[in-house]
Amino acid sequence: MMNANYLVIGSGIAGLTFSVKIAEKFPERTVVIITKSNEEESNTKYAQGGVAIVLNAKKDSFKKHIQDTLIAGDGLCDEAVVELVIKGGPKRLEELMNWGANFDVDKSGNLDLGKEGGHSEYRVVHHKDITGAEIERALLQRAHQLPNITILPHHFAIDLITNHHITDSKAKANSCFGAYVLDQKSETIFTIKADSTLLASGGIGRVYGHTTNPVIATGDGIAMAYRAKAQIKDMEFVQFHPTALYEVEGESSFLISEAVRGFGAYLRDKKGNRFMLGYDERAELASRDIVSQSIDNELKKTGDTHVFLDCTHLDIDAFKKHFPNIYQKCKEQYIDIETDWIPVVPAAHYLCGGIIVDLDGKTSVNNLFACGECSRTGLHGANRLASNSLLEALVYAHNIFKYQSGHDCKTIELNIPNWNDEGTCIAKEHILIQHNLRQLQALMRDYVGIARSNSRLKKSIKHLDLIYKEVEELYKQSKISISLCELRNMVNVSHLIINQSIQRKINKGGYYNIDNM
Ligand code: FAD
Ligand code: SIN
Repeated sequence: MMNANYLVIGSGIAGLTFSVKIAEKFPERTVVIITKSNEEESNTKYAQGGVAIVLNAKKDSFKKHIQDTLIAGDGLCDEAVVELVIKGGPKRLEELMNWGANFDVDKSGNLDLGKEGGHSEYRVVHHKDITGAEIERALLQRAHQLPNITILPHHFAIDLITNHHITDSKAKANSCFGAYVLDQKSETIFTIKADSTLLASGGIGRVYGHTTNPVIATGDGIAMAYRAKAQIKDMEFVQFHPTALYEVEGESSFLISEAVRGFGAYLRDKKGNRFMLGYDERAELASRDIVSQSIDNELKKTGDTHVFLDCTHLDIDAFKKHFPNIYQKCKEQYIDIETDWIPVVPAAHYLCGGIIVDLDGKTSVNNLFACGECSRTGLHGANRLASNSLLEALVYAHNIFKYQSGHDCKTIELNIPNWNDEGTCIAKEHILIQHNLRQLQALMRDYVGIARSNSRLKKSIKHLDLIYKEVEELYKQSKISISLCELRNMVNVSHLIINQSIQRKINKGGYYNIDNM
């Protein structure tokens, strides 16, 4: 058993920002960060475009950024949240830079601002096309300087500890008391008891198989919160990024940043038509939901497997400077962007919904907070505006920090039972996990993708039910393994996406059902 004032699940931008802030202000309080892979592995590490922040007061304004966010969210954003997040941007950026994060500057030494779909102005602060890796580096560096932060890599949160697990009468109802954690090196499961637990466990992209997300993005936090009876909302709003590189082998699809279209690249079909001109007056820079749905429509019409991103008319030296990572990746795939078009296809990218939180990041379960991609704040509505996610994580990590600063840590002695794995045996049939995972991903891709229909959604419930039963049986009989826990979590997340999709009767933003026309 381990004790902490704060247990933070996840070491991406959300978890690290909160941890650094609280540990700096309260050296006597302890923070334990657990993370299931290497400490830097996260969606954050792969963020390319940057952080949307209003900095150019001559051209841009909070009002414009708020407006762009509301338009992208298609009427479902919480306006108070939008205002709070966007106005919080400049201060949070300053903080990040004070911790050592570097961002590109222009010839006059001002921060260089990029543009992405749905933005009416240049406002995306970036570090070349590896912004997330730079932020992650700086945050980890700062976290390691603080002695009251302990980072435990390769530690997997299996489940939150709630009243369901304990009988101690001192335990306040509807509360979280920490988590059961699997130490992957020693293969032991132990208890971390915490006064407050923060879920900062990121997204769900792997549910779809074809995704820009790394393998860690299996929706564990959302599934754990769901099992702990926390409220979850807007799960139908899965955001598909329009331009993942087509047919790269490997687990994740490499992203061609929207900032490349902001830099002037065109989308073309195989005949060379700039088809986006026929869909939206903003063409390639329409918001992400519109571009992805348009590409999906084109592919269904033509039977093609992908479309193209044409950069051949751009200043290639400037391109290489701004997008060295993308340039290099294309080169490795034998794509010379000076002469070749880049084959691209939409891929699952981001979850707009998640665990409902209030302005302080509190969930509906006492002592349980959520921040970053696993949370649902109301900022994104039905479709997230590009580069608003890193911003949201920074601002909400700050809000949770402010809330915690105003509250004493109340450590209560509680009798928490150890993890019980009686009656289970080593999982010999790894093939069963792999088989069910493949089935689940195929189901979500084919039936619950960009364009949904009532009949496909209904069928998906039946198919999911079969997978659910098999996975639950496996879970009850086998010794815990990470792949099995992740699969179980992905089944829970898929259930939420499908059910909340069925409940949505009007198409909005990233949710498109052909029967709702
Ligand atoms: P993450 O960064 O994903 O961190 C989650 C952490 O939780 C990880 O450390 C993970 O290991 C850990 N974890 C998960 N489950 C468990 C468990 N069971 N036990 C222990 N640990 C666990 N957004 C922008 O605003 N701008 C961009 O330019 C941008 N570009 C992107 C490009 C790509 C390719 C991708 C995939 C996303 C991009 N996004 C961008 C989205 C943004 O990066 C993410 O939404 C954001 O980084 C999420 O941060 P987070 O801290 O919430 O989660
Ligand atoms: C990108 O660089 O295209 C990703 C930006 C984002 O997801 O916000």
